[in-house]
Amino acid sequence: MRRSIMAGNWKMYKTAAETTAFFEKFLPLVEKATHCEIVVAPPFVNLAAAVAATRSSRVEIAAQNLHWVTKDGAYTGEVSGPMLKAIGCGWVIIGHSERRQYFGETDETVLKRTIAALESGLAPIVCVGERLEEREAGRTEAVLEEQFNGGLAGLAPEQFARVTIAYEPVWAIGTGRTATPEIAADAHKFLRSRIKARYGEEQAAATRILYGGSVKPDNIKGLMAQPDIDGGLVGGASLDPASFASIVNF
Ligand code: PGA
Repeated sequence: MRRSIMAGNWKMYKTAAETTAFFEKFLPLVEKATHCEIVVAPPFVNLAAAVAATRSSRVEIAAQNLHWVTKDGAYTGEVSGPMLKAIGCGWVIIGHSERRQYFGETDETVLKRTIAALESGLAPIVCVGERLEEREAGRTEAVLEEQFNGGLAGLAPEQFARVTIAYEPVWAIGTGRTATPEIAADAHKFLRSRIKARYGEEQAAATRILYGGSVKPDNIKGLMAQPDIDGGLVGGASLDPASFASIVNF
């Protein structure tokens, strides 16, 4: 019942010209991929090029962040949800671990940005995940619970219904060290149990939870074989058209 999503997170990679060139190669490779939604998140400056290049395709474009204020204002360096909507974005990634680690993102700001995304008509992909030392200390579920409670549980049920979650164990991001399908599935099951406790069984069955962290063409099949894994949030392997296409077409 849950439609899967393959999302590429380009982080701080590619120029506008490289963005256009990517989609020229990528789109023909995923033309027949109707089994999932395909989302690509380029840096802000390439959103216009990405939207133009994907206009007559099924690929949708995401931003990698947004500010929590939804009106124009004096916030140097920030980009608002309505601006992203106006440029043609349908989605936005929120609370990526790199933003939490390097840019002071907290559960509180994740919640504020998620509300801003929803008010702007954008579909948020909200990231959660434990750091290596937290996993090693046996705190994985406590951390996920904390991030869920602080960053998501404050939404009204009708708001939460429009959220996609990405479970991204920080120790697996960009390290080549993917979580095994079983480890990932355990975390997804745990998150689903939290959704059930807060928003009820029906919502828990409907919410899509993506896995992220060193997703590659050769491990996507095993991950997707887990019923609780509804897709991937792919960093490094989404930068190359053939590699991301083979993940989409797993
Ligand atoms: P990775 O990144 O696939 O390069 O590990 C995933 C992410 O950060 O979303």
